[in-house]
Amino acid sequence: MQTLDGRAVLVTGAASGIGRATALEVARRGAVVACLDRAADGLEETAALVAEAGGRTVYHALDVSDEPAVADAVAAAVRDLGRLDGVVTSAGIVHGPDLQPIADVSLETFQQVLAVNLVGTFLAIKHALAHLVRDDGPERSSVVTIASTAALRGHGFGAGYTASKGGVEAFTRLVAVQYGPRGVRANCICPGAVATPMAAGAWDGEAARARMKRLIPIGNVADPSELATAVAFLLSDDSRHVTGQTLAVDGGSTAQ
Ligand SMILES: NC(=O)c1ccc[n+]([C@@H]2O[C@H](COP(=O)([O-])OP(=O)(O)OC[C@H]3O[C@@H](n4cnc5c(N)ncnc54)[C@H](O)[C@@H]3O)[C@@H](O)[C@H]2O)c1
Repeated sequence: MQTLDGRAVLVTGAASGIGRATALEVARRGAVVACLDRAADGLEETAALVAEAGGRTVYHALDVSDEPAVADAVAAAVRDLGRLDGVVTSAGIVHGPDLQPIADVSLETFQQVLAVNLVGTFLAIKHALAHLVRDDGPERSSVVTIASTAALRGHGFGAGYTASKGGVEAFTRLVAVQYGPRGVRANCICPGAVATPMAAGAWDGEAARARMKRLIPIGNVADPSELATAVAFLLSDDSRHVTGQTLAVDGGSTAQ
């Protein structure tokens, strides 16, 4: 299914979890991929996995909250890949000290989480937009942000985390409205529970599994590949008329 044949896609957070699964999925569908992450080792592993699957990547180790580094990496990706058709922002953190009652969360902690999850999303999109605009012809490019069901419900996942994810969702709509007339689509995915290093151990044990069955109608935590196929749909022309939308990929948890 070569639905992204000839496209070039930039993925932040590509060294692990949903970002890595996305890099692999879009490469399998024919795209070349620029992978950005702060974890250099993980980036190498992702590049090796993509190569094994017959795809091509370039990668850059950086902090997504560092504007000059993001600007340079986006420019280098466009130079190396020759074009840019899609951006996926999956870099994100959950930070221990953020997971407390709001009154106990320090400003520093709150800002640290916002810097990665929200500012990092803004910077990648900001610097990619000049390459994504399609002022001539019917071609459209696509931005896919990764927020969380924490953007949709106050289910207690940290002050900075929740605020950052709500910000990502709202920001995505603005991208869709401002840049829709210039051929850029933008949609936000809100994952529920996904089996990645970020969620490591959260669903281990009998009590956690029973809670999972109660919270997720479909009955299990998602595999990252189940997020990646939704991202690939939103990147491809299969979703040509879909923009400004939020898609919860959560096994039905926000439906109840
Ligand atoms: N796993 C879940 O259950 C879940 C649920 C809802 C939302 N999400 C969101 O999905 C996205 C991906 O998470 P994941 O589960 O794949 O986690 P993950 O930890 O496997 O991957 C996150 C990646 O982001 C990178 N990263 C973190 N800070 C960075 C920085 N400052 N600069 C560059 N890279 C940085 C990490 O190195 C890592 O490779 C995140 O935004 C997360 O909030 C995950």
